[in-house]
Amino acid sequence: MMGASDHNEQEDRTMTTFSAYRLEEREGKSVGAITRMRLADLDEGGVVIRSVYAGVNYKDALAGTGAAPIIRRFPCVGGIEAVGVVVESDSDGVREGDEVIVHGRGIGVSHDGGFSEYVRVPADWVTHLPRGLDMHEAAAIGVAGHTAAVAVDLMELNGLKPSRGPVVVTGATGGVASLAIDMMSGLGYELVAVSRKLDQRDYLTALGATDVIQPPSPEESGRPLESAEWAGAVDAAGGHLLSWVLRKTRPGGTVACFGNAAGIKLDMTVLPFILRGVRLLGVNADTEPAYRLHIWNRLATDLKPTRLEAITRDITLDELPATFERMVEGRTTGRHVVRFAD
Ligand SMILES: NC(=O)c1ccc[n+]([C@@H]2O[C@H](COP(=O)([O-])OP(=O)(O)OC[C@H]3O[C@@H](n4cnc5c(N)ncnc54)[C@H](OP(=O)(O)O)[C@@H]3O)[C@@H](O)[C@H]2O)c1
Repeated sequence: MMGASDHNEQEDRTMTTFSAYRLEEREGKSVGAITRMRLADLDEGGVVIRSVYAGVNYKDALAGTGAAPIIRRFPCVGGIEAVGVVVESDSDGVREGDEVIVHGRGIGVSHDGGFSEYVRVPADWVTHLPRGLDMHEAAAIGVAGHTAAVAVDLMELNGLKPSRGPVVVTGATGGVASLAIDMMSGLGYELVAVSRKLDQRDYLTALGATDVIQPPSPEESGRPLESAEWAGAVDAAGGHLLSWVLRKTRPGGTVACFGNAAGIKLDMTVLPFILRGVRLLGVNADTEPAYRLHIWNRLATDLKPTRLEAITRDITLDELPATFERMVEGRTTGRHVVRFAD
């Protein structure tokens, strides 16, 4: 039940304006700007969260720069994830003061998202932070870490284990890949990082990569099957790099595919699948609630990254546009997290 002071607080919140990074459509492209909003301007939902952090993802950068048609409804507050504290709730399962994370379900794409001092969502979109993760750790992990953990989980379910041999990670300095290297090195895997940024060798070896190599150029076509080197692959790149790792995967190996930084086309033969039994596993981070909980619990325990400080950089809301530009050009490293007021 609410007391008089709760009512006053709620009224204050309803009247107050707050900052949000909102995308609008201009000449068929999405264009973002920081604007002042009120709670009533946000999409509906029974839970109001005061944002503390919001991780930045490649998808946000595509939306913010207008490089790809990500936003499904304009105007829309950007940001496909948020971590914060519940300040209002219509649900018994989600209470004021709870520390939560929200991602997926259209947040930052068709429902106002996380780059906002307040986020409003339906109660069943909310995941409580698991014991063992604080709010900054959860945001540093975010959608990127969730994706990396789903990739590891699916690969293990398909027979991958450290004794089967080295695992290759493409787009290695990116958010998902950096976290995958950190978590898989903790499980004892030998990891080959594939990166265009060879000047980041020290960063990648500090995360746990045993070797750092350069990717082939898109012009190198290669044979339908190449020497089988890797027991598994975590692929952030897609395009010619995904085809390259599939052609070099050992018999019975597993390849987790979730990214398209190098392209969306897959131009190759079926030979790796029918002659070597290579398994191509699709990863979508918009997981169902029970599986989402399982993955977040792993992220707080056996898959908990141990080098988050090296991977993560905090930024302000104002720094988003410049970060997006660098991200779509492939010039960022690791994770960026928007820090709202202390
Ligand atoms: N399926 C899902 O649910 C899901 C969830 C999260 C992310 N994703 C996707 O996964 C990918 C990685 O996400 P992220 O957040 O880790 O992004 P990110 O931090 O921007 O990392 C992407 C990395 O890919 C490499 N790269 C960028 N442009 C490239 C190009 N043109 N050719 C080859 N490599 C390139 C770069 O690594 P190097 O410079 O080290 O080579 C870059 O750091 C994105 O495509 C994203 O959309 C999908």
